Amino acid sequence: MQSAFEPMQPSQKSRFREAYLNYLRARDGQPDLRARRFDIRERFFAQIDANPVVWEGRPPVDQGVFDRNYRRAKPEAGLDEATLWALATAKTNRGERYGVEYSLAHGEHPTDPSADPHAFIQVEEVYHTRILEDALAAIGVKMKVSDPGVATRVLVRGMVHMPDQVSDVLVLCGEIFGVAVFALLLEKARELFASQPRALARIEALFAQIMVDEVGHVHFVRSRLSPELVRLARRIGPLVAWGAMRDIPELEALFGRKKILERMARADVDSEAAPYADRFVLPTA
Ligand SMILES: [Fe+2]
Ligand SMILES: [Fe+2]
Repeated sequence: MQSAFEPMQPSQKSRFREAYLNYLRARDGQPDLRARRFDIRERFFAQIDANPVVWEGRPPVDQGVFDRNYRRAKPEAGLDEATLWALATAKTNRGERYGVEYSLAHGEHPTDPSADPHAFIQVEEVYHTRILEDALAAIGVKMKVSDPGVATRVLVRGMVHMPDQVSDVLVLCGEIFGVAVFALLLEKARELFASQPRALARIEALFAQIMVDEVGHVHFVRSRLSPELVRLARRIGPLVAWGAMRDIPELEALFGRKKILERMARADVDSEAAPYADRFVLPTA
C-alpha cells in the first residue's frame, strides 16, 4: 500500500502522464466541454436510463423530510441513518461540480481537450452529479443538485484564480477526502439497503464509476506536485476535511469526525479502487 500523501517519483510522473491520458481516452472517449459529455461514457448512462431501478414498497427516505433538510445548512435532530446517507450523498459532489462550472465559465480553455487530462477530469465531475442523482433515485429520492455552502463557494472561487501550484495542494486534499467519503458512504449503503439487492446493486455500479474516476484524479494532482507540496497537502489535509465536514454535517452525524479523518489520513486510494477492473493502475516500469 502507498499513501497518496507520499510524493510521486519523477520517473513515475512521466510514465503516469502518458498512461493516464491513454486510459482516459479509452474510458471516456472524446470530451465535449460545451455539452459536458463524453461519447463513450454516455453508453453507460444510456444503459442506466434504459433500466430504471425502482424501490419496492415504502422508500427508506421520506421525500418531504429530504427536501426540507437538503435546503438546510444543518440537518434536523433525530434523522435516521438512511435520510442522513441520502443527504450526505446529495451534498458530497457539490463543491467539485461548483468548481468545474465556475472554472469553465472563468478559467482558460484548452485548445485540444482530448490532449488535456484536466479537461477529462472536469467532464467526469459533471457526470458525478448525474451519478449521485441516479444513486438516490434507486432508493426513491428525487434530487436536483444545488450549490455548496458559502464557505465552499468562496474557497472554490478563490482556487480558480490561485496559481496552479497552490490550488493543486488544496485539490489533492479534496480529492483524497472524496475517496475516503465515497468509500464510507458505499459501506454504509451496504448496511442500510441490503434488503433490496437490485437497488443496492445499482448504487454499487454507480459508486464504482465515481471511485474509479476519483482515484485517477488523486494521482493526476500528485503528478503535478513537488514532494514539498505533497507533504504540505498531508499537513493541511485535516483542515480541508474540517471545512468540507462543516459544509456537509451529515457526514459527521453518520460516521463521526475521527473515522473520516483516519480514513482520509490513510489515503490508500489504490486499495479503495482495487475491487474495480476498470480502475487506473499506476505503471511501475
Ligand atoms: Fe467527483
Ligand atoms: Fe474528483
